[in-house]
Parts: sequence; structure tokens; C-alpha cells
Amino acid sequence: MSESKLAQKAGPNSSIVLRIFRGDTNGGREQRFEVPSIEGMVVLDAVHYVQAHFANDLACRWNCKAARCGSCSAEINGRPRLMCKTRVDEFDNEDIHVGPMRAFPLIKDLVTDVSWNYEVNKQIPGFTPAPSEPVPYKMLPEDTERVYEYRKCIECFLCQDVCHVLRNHDDKSAYYGPRYMVRIAALEMHPLDTRKRTGLLHGKAGIGMCNITKCCQEVCPEHIKITDNAIIPLKERTASDVYDPVVRIARKINPFRGVAATAALEEARPSQATGPQRFSVRDVVRLKTRGRRLARVGSVLPDRRLEVWVLQMNGTVQHWDGPKVVRTSDVASNYGPLDDVGIGAKLVEQYITEDHEAQHNG
Ligand code: SF4
Ligand code: SF4
Ligand code: FES
Repeated sequence: MSESKLAQKAGPNSSIVLRIFRGDTNGGREQRFEVPSIEGMVVLDAVHYVQAHFANDLACRWNCKAARCGSCSAEINGRPRLMCKTRVDEFDNEDIHVGPMRAFPLIKDLVTDVSWNYEVNKQIPGFTPAPSEPVPYKMLPEDTERVYEYRKCIECFLCQDVCHVLRNHDDKSAYYGPRYMVRIAALEMHPLDTRKRTGLLHGKAGIGMCNITKCCQEVCPEHIKITDNAIIPLKERTASDVYDPVVRIARKINPFRGVAATAALEEARPSQATGPQRFSVRDVVRLKTRGRRLARVGSVLPDRRLEVWVLQMNGTVQHWDGPKVVRTSDVASNYGPLDDVGIGAKLVEQYITEDHEAQHNG
């Protein structure tokens, strides 16, 4: 905000007290600054005022001032937040404490070294469509909607900062952190992706370390439901791939066609991916039939065929019809567990009751 605007809008005596951390790897402490308060001011404005008037060497990272770039992450009164999205007037007459993210090594003042995150990112196998998938890729609108939530991430790393697994362990080798659960979910739930990452999740990515405290979800400035829509569905997929006895037997018989290849196998045979093969009871899947109908998995048979209930649509009236046995190769995409999948849950909520389903079961 320009100084003329500031002079215009600041009240005669209105000011705020900022206590900003100053220091580097050798240590540091908070320093007090008094800044004129103006209408609509955010913490980043106040920090810029301090830089301009009292401490030109104050280090602070920022870029867009519009909550889009994810650069200005800091801890404000102890909570991980974006400085450019946090208004000073929400603190009333309290002093505003501004410090660097504590989960990452400090460089100087408010700037931390977040490069570990980019190293983690490189370890995640990227989007892998089937070689035969026609280009340009075509997706149904509901499929796009499903992955859109994960793509909203601005890589601010506030979720990584608040996650106690990363924050309280100097050694970050145990867990990739919530940001990368979101990235893996975006890939795993992409209808055209054929790669399996449950081996990686179970192993190096350390999804088992997360105990679903939801702290990450609470601080996400993009309101991504990190635990509900990314971590929990990924945990369920990983559990069925890694611990399901049928899956384990299938994997022993033919490790490269099994449903839960380990990270090593995934690395060894990436081109063997043949389509979605990860199913558990209550998954919602899309069948490769005319119109690509939705089905929910009732059971996974010993020969790995699926007993499914198919969603029948007749105008606005819809019901699950079945059971019908299909081969896994008849499945085009797997949306994940019914209760955690937007589209499945939405349909169930709107049109389907257990009674209705019971009638069809009967
Ligand atoms: S829910 Fe999991 S990932 Fe999120 S903060 Fe808690 S432990 Fe970390
Ligand atoms: S998931 Fe949310 S909190 Fe985590 S890095 Fe992305 S935008 Fe930031
Ligand atoms: S400056 Fe870009 S998110 Fe705050």
C-alpha cells in the first residue's frame, strides 16, 4: 500500500504493534515495531511498512499479495497462515507476533528453506496414462470435478508446517507430509492415470504415520479437505492393496499383475500398468460400457472378478441394480471408497436410500 494512501486512511492515533522474529541459524529474538493501522491492512502490508521505515534488512518472502503464490507463509500468533491473507484488524488490540515456519530450517528472519518439499515431490511418479489413451485426453465433467480440489494447492506448505509428524521430528524421512498426500491423491484418483502408488504410500511416503488429527486441513488457505478427501481414501486404498489376503495371494502368483505392486516393482515395470486394478468393497467404479455407467463394488471374488451394483438412471429416478459379475478389465476408472468419494456420496445422498437398495437386494 502506498504511503499517500496510508497517510490518508490511517486514523490519527491508530497503530498496531508487531513483534517480528529477527535472526538466523545462530539464533534470534522478537523485535517490537509500531506501525500505523489502516483500513483493510494485512500483516504483509505491516511487514512491508517495517521494511520501508525501520528495518530495511528484514527478510521476508512474498510475490503475489493475493493468496495465489504461496510464498508469504509464516506463523502469526502461533498459527501457520499466509501474511497477505491475514487482516490486522482481526487481532483487535493484541500485539501481532510474526515468525517463520518452524517445521523448516531457518535462513533469515521470516524466510525458511523449504527445498526439502521439492525433493519429496521428485520422488512421486508423475501422471501415467495408458499408452493407448487417445490424445487429446477426454474426461467427463464429473471426473474433472473430482480432481479439481487437489489441483487448487498453491504449495504454501502451511499444512506441512502444522503437521506434528514433520514438525516434531528433525528427521523428515518418515513421512512425505499432507501436501504430498494431496498430490498423490490427484494422481491416484485421476481417471486416466494407470500407475499404482500404494506401494510408495505404504513405504517411503509413510502414510501410516498420519493419525488423522486434521490440523493440516484446518490451516489450508485453499480449503482443501486434506484428510477427508485425500489422506483417508489413500489410506483405505493402501490398506486393501497391502493387507487384503486375496490381493496378497494374487500378488504372490503374479507380482507384476497384482493389485499392490511395491514401490520397487512399480519402478521396475512401469510399462506394465494396464488400468485400474485396485478394488475393495464399497468402491465406486466406472464401467467400460456404453455411457460408462457407475457401479459400486459389492464383493471382490477369489478369481478377482467383481460383484457390482450398477447405477441405473431413468430420468431423475435412479437406483442400484444387481448384483452383476464383471471382470476388472471391464472397469475404466476407480473413484475410491463410496463414503469418501464426492460423486458416489452425492448420488447416495440425493437419490438412494438403504431401503431402496434392500428392495433390490431382496
Ligand atoms: S492429519 Fe495427518 S497429515 Fe494432517 S496434520 Fe495430522 S498427522 Fe499430519
Ligand atoms: S494443501 Fe493447502 S495448506 Fe497444503 S500446501 Fe497446498 S494449499 Fe498449502
Ligand atoms: S504473497 Fe502470494 S500468497 Fe501471499
